Amino acid sequence: MTTISVRRAVMFDVESILQIYNQGIEDRIATLEEDIKDSDYMHSWYSGRGDRYLVLVAEVGNQVVGWASLNPYSHRCANAGVADLSVYVRRDLRGKGVGSALLNHIETSAKENGFHKIVLFTFPFNANGQGLYSKRGFLEVGVFHNQGKLDGNFVDVMAMEKLL
Ligand SMILES: CC(C)(COP(=O)(O)OP(=O)(O)OC[C@H]1O[C@@H](n2cnc3c(N)ncnc32)[C@H](O)[C@@H]1OP(=O)(O)O)[C@@H](O)C(=O)NCCC(=O)NCCS
Repeated sequence: MTTISVRRAVMFDVESILQIYNQGIEDRIATLEEDIKDSDYMHSWYSGRGDRYLVLVAEVGNQVVGWASLNPYSHRCANAGVADLSVYVRRDLRGKGVGSALLNHIETSAKENGFHKIVLFTFPFNANGQGLYSKRGFLEVGVFHNQGKLDGNFVDVMAMEKLL
């Protein structure tokens, strides 16, 4: 594969971010969300973030092929140094290093933005996700059993963390 570059997202990227997010929702591997999102939802999500909770996109050949975001973990001041992570790669380019490139950059940006820790919540059966997070040094905190329902069935959710 050609070079993967990572940069800050701009408003123009929101449609690509939406398409990639919806693939993650459809694949039932990444999130408890069941319904695909529309353009209004994604624009509102992007607009409400502010500088600290940034969104990065990965490009291959001038096409956005993945994105990652730092999300608020808690509104309590005591947790201000903790960010929650989202990362999504276009379906046809998973397993080719895009997620690794995004996490490499977002960890650096998180430190610059005053976060000391990133947490994430993932399905234990998400093999790509588990591979990526382990490789990047995220450690398992524990598993919430029957934490949510996906298509009517209970699913477990694993919490992971990385001290930066
Ligand atoms: C999870 C996801 C973000 C990972 O990104 P990615 O670009 O596929 O991951 P990478 O190619 O950087 O791979 C990172 C590591 O994961 C592991 N890995 C990758 N693909 C794998 C697979 N099919 N099976 C098992 N492990 C795999 C490898 O250890 C790999 O490191 P290596 O290439 O040095 O061996 C991506 O697959 C994705 O978007 N999936 C759907 C959405 C999603 O699950 N998001 C996360 C929600 S918690």
